[in-house]
Amino acid sequence: MRLSVIGCGYLGAVHAAAMASIGHEVVGIDVDPRKIDALSRGEAPFFEPGLPEILSAGVASGRLRFTTDIAEALGAKVHFIGVGTPQQKDGYAADLTYVNAAVDALLPYLSPGDIVAGKSTVPVGTAASLTPRIDAAGATLVWNPEFLREGWAVQDTIDPDRLVVGGSADAADVLREVYHPAVAKGTPFLVTDLATAELVKVAANAFLATKISFINAMAEIAEVTGADVTQLAEAIGHDDRIGRKFLGAGIGFGGGCLPKDIRAFSARAEELGRGESVAFLREVDEINLRRRERAVQLVIEGLGGQVFEKKITVLGAAFKPYSDDIRDSPALDVAVRLHGLGARVVVTDPEAIANAQRVHPQLTYVADRDEAIADADAIILVTEWDEYRRELAPEHASTLTHGRVVIDGRNGLDPAAWRAAGWTYLGMGRP
Ligand code: UGA
Repeated sequence: MRLSVIGCGYLGAVHAAAMASIGHEVVGIDVDPRKIDALSRGEAPFFEPGLPEILSAGVASGRLRFTTDIAEALGAKVHFIGVGTPQQKDGYAADLTYVNAAVDALLPYLSPGDIVAGKSTVPVGTAASLTPRIDAAGATLVWNPEFLREGWAVQDTIDPDRLVVGGSADAADVLREVYHPAVAKGTPFLVTDLATAELVKVAANAFLATKISFINAMAEIAEVTGADVTQLAEAIGHDDRIGRKFLGAGIGFGGGCLPKDIRAFSARAEELGRGESVAFLREVDEINLRRRERAVQLVIEGLGGQVFEKKITVLGAAFKPYSDDIRDSPALDVAVRLHGLGARVVVTDPEAIANAQRVHPQLTYVADRDEAIADADAIILVTEWDEYRRELAPEHASTLTHGRVVIDGRNGLDPAAWRAAGWTYLGMGRP
C-alpha cells in the first residue's frame, strides 16, 4: 500500500522504516532538511537499535523515501501523522502547533477516500476538532495511538502487543491491511471511537508513570524504616495482578513521553471540569521529581556532608538505556544539580553525550567509561547501560577511582559485591 508518514522524529522515522520493511511503499515527510538528508542516505538521525538496518534496506529497495515536500504525500492511501506534541512552554498542556500545521499542510494533497491516521499523543478531543477539515477533503480521520518504547521501537512497531484504531470500521479495516503481519499472527486489534483511542494512549502512560511513582513512594517509606524496596517489589510483583514490571525504584521516569503526557492529561482533565479525577497525577509527578533530589542527597551523604570540588562521575545521561534521548532525563538532572553544588561533575554515556552537551555545555563529558571514573571521589549510576550495571566490576573500579563511594540511582548494582570490594554502597530505598 502507498503510505505517507508526516513527522520523522522518534515515532515517525521508525514507523516509516518499519512500514517499508513489511512491504509498503512509504514516503516520510519532515520540515527539517537535516533529518531528511540523513534518513535519505539510510542513516538514523538518533540512536535506536535495529533502525539503521531497516532504514538502509528500505531506501535501497526503493520502497522508502524521505522528503521535505508534503506534496509528495499525494497518492498515498493512508497518511500517518507522527509529529511531536511537546509540553507548552508556559504550562502543562500539550502544544498542538505541529499537529495542526501537519494537518493544514496535508489538506491540499488529500484525495477522496484517503485515510488520515493520527499517531501523535494528543489530548482527548483533538481528533474531533480535526475531523471537519479532513471530512471536507473527502478523507476519513482515525486515531491509531502508538505504544512503542524507545530502545525497542522497531520491534514494538512491527510486532506490537495490541493495535488500537479509533474511528470508522471501514477505515479500521484498511489499517488491518497496513498492519498485516501483526494481524495475521492474531495480535489483539481493538476498534473504538476517536475519544477512546486518544484516551487509551494517555491512560496507558499515566498508569505506567503511576506504577513507577508507587514503587518510589514505597522507597521513601523504606528509607525511614530500614526496609528494602527491591525485595518489596519482587515480593508484590509475584502477584500477577500487580506484576513485577515497572516496579523499578530509583531516580524515576523521564523521557519525551511519560512526564509530559501526565501533565497534559491533568491539564486536559481540568479543561473538561474533571481535574479531580486525575489529581493523583500531580502527586505522581512530585514523587518522581523528589527522587532526583534524593539521589543528590545520597551523594552528599556518601561524601561525608558536602560535594564542593569533589569529582563525581555520573554514569549515564540518557533517560534510559538503549536510547540517546535526553529529554527530561533524570540522569542529566542529577548531574546538573550536583554541578550546581560545586562538584566537579564528569558525565559519561555510550550514546547520549552529543545531545547532552548541546543542552548542558557547562558539564564535562568523557566518552570512555574508565577515563571518566579515573580519580573520582564518588560514582553514581543513573542510566542502567550494561557497561555500567553488569560490566563494571567493583574490583576494577577500585583500581581507577580516588574514593570508594558508589550511589546506585537505578538499584541496578549488587550491593554485596561492591561492599565486599570495600565500597560504601548507597541505593535508592534500600538499607
Ligand atoms: C513510554 C511507554 O513505556 C511506551 O509504551 C509509550 O509508547 C511511550 O512512552 C510513548 O508514549 O511514546 P519510553 O518513553 O520509551 O516509553 O520509556 P519507558 O520504557 O516507559 O521508560 C520511561 C522512564 O521510566 C525511563 O526514564 C525509565 O528509566 C523509567 N523507569 C521505567 C523506572 O524508573 N522504573 C521502571 O521500573 C521502569
